[in-house]
Amino acid sequence: MRVKINGETRELWTLWREGVNVKIIDQRYLPHRFEILTLHNHCETAEAIREMAVRGAGAIGVAAGYGIAQAALEAKEWKLKDFKAYVSKAANTLKNTRPTAVNLFHAIDRCIKAISSGSVSERVASACAESDRIALDDLEASKKMGEYGNALIGDRCHILTHCNAGALAFIDNGSALAPIREAHRSGKRIFVYADETRPRSQGAKLTTWELQQEGVHYALIVDNAAGHYMFRGEVDLVIVGADRIAANGDTANKIGTYEKAVLALENGIPFYVAAPKMTFDIKCPTGKSIEIEERSSDEVNWVWGVDEDGIYRRVRISAEGTTALNPSFDITPAKYITGFITDVGVIKPPFSRSIREAFHPKKDKGN
Ligand code: MRU
Repeated sequence: MRVKINGETRELWTLWREGVNVKIIDQRYLPHRFEILTLHNHCETAEAIREMAVRGAGAIGVAAGYGIAQAALEAKEWKLKDFKAYVSKAANTLKNTRPTAVNLFHAIDRCIKAISSGSVSERVASACAESDRIALDDLEASKKMGEYGNALIGDRCHILTHCNAGALAFIDNGSALAPIREAHRSGKRIFVYADETRPRSQGAKLTTWELQQEGVHYALIVDNAAGHYMFRGEVDLVIVGADRIAANGDTANKIGTYEKAVLALENGIPFYVAAPKMTFDIKCPTGKSIEIEERSSDEVNWVWGVDEDGIYRRVRISAEGTTALNPSFDITPAKYITGFITDVGVIKPPFSRSIREAFHPKKDKGN
């Protein structure tokens, strides 16, 4: 992504690997502070995922893959038996960071599979190569989602999005924001409603920052204003991202997505989910089998931001001693979803069949 930092324009990925080090744009301080954080080993990478310094399904998948490469490099001088035990323990550490976004699990499994044979040095090389491939696949998937999604966007379209499914949630471009960027770049005069997305405010902090950098016209709205604009006929299209999509199309995404989908159907507005193949989990038959992450009540009781003097601080917004519940995601049942914008095209209902056919096409028996 192209970012303007202190008047200087730079072309950056959300995260990348430099040998054993992983570099990330630290998303905890945006839009107020732009910082690149260096993660020196797989434990620091796991912590960065848990603490959401790196976040968004695609980005945490890539980070987890890099984490396996780091673990392999950390153990590169060891005997094969010890190397295998170390990497397997690292895989567990990385898997125990965030439970909902399936990209994380798919990336770790891909790297582990890639290092299932060979000498220690061959396995180290394979872990690095596979983790780099995951990042490039993520990049390519975002480009494709941008192209396929752009075809659904008309000139002067008003689009609502939730949370941040942008470049920061992937290596670059994003899922839900990829079609929006593509539409804007192709000259369409679009307007975006960005939901604030409490409690961590990824919409307010990250989506507004990305849209501003891109030059897209947008307005930030509080989470409960979406129905108001839909009822007034001011939203033409909803595009959101996803953290895990079950075999029947039920979709886990940031808390608050479900109610936007219900409102969209009620108001006759198309509701699209943009996600790459890595986010589909055909082992989950329905949304009921998707684990929903519960995060600390502190994220609800307190908010971070800058005060009038530009000092970054945390303030409490609830009565002291308040119990707050903090489910990080919800499930949008497939019946509310108009289609999936994926890297292989737009998938339409009936989803149980179309998802299977898109990602697991039957082999031609003649060959
Ligand atoms: O908790 P986060 O910020 O990692 O969750 C991200 C989301 O849920 C986004 O909405 C996004 O759609 C999925 S990431 C592409």
